[in-house]
Amino acid sequence: MNYKIIHIQKIGDQRGKLISLESLKNVPFEIRRVFFIFDTVKNISRGEHAHRTSEQAIICLNGSCYFLLDNGLEKAEIILDDPQMMLYIGKNMWRKMYNFSGNCILMVLANDFYDEKEYIRNYDEFLMASQLSKHETEHKK
Ligand code: TYD
Repeated sequence: MNYKIIHIQKIGDQRGKLISLESLKNVPFEIRRVFFIFDTVKNISRGEHAHRTSEQAIICLNGSCYFLLDNGLEKAEIILDDPQMMLYIGKNMWRKMYNFSGNCILMVLANDFYDEKEYIRNYDEFLMASQLSKHETEHKK
């Protein structure tokens, strides 16, 4: 599964807490884009796509949100509910976000600019692409 949870150190004192994110230090790629998801409507899901080339690192700044991650063979459910928890998702991973709490703010860091062409939004196409990349990896061994 091409994902991992990265624990981010916080800097805290009697005034409160601070988290710093730096490319290629605690974020495992060069950050080229940042976007936020907020004001989500109750009982909706988002995502339901994979990226052919881009990587993302996601932090839930406020509230909580569930992620379903899927590599075409295995699935995992992750709950993001702590700003010190960064979910790294590599390429070719199907993701769905759901169960957003009312006050949820998701911050997404990406290693590339927005490009609709690198999205796979059709699940059957994703399954075909993931089978193909598995076959190519096995062929190289
Ligand atoms: P979408 O990928 O459907 O959001 P989610 O993954 O949360 O379900 O994106 C919603 C719209 O926003 C879609 O028209 C593409 C556009 N968009 C951008 O213009 N720039 C971006 O960086 C992102 C992530 C989306």
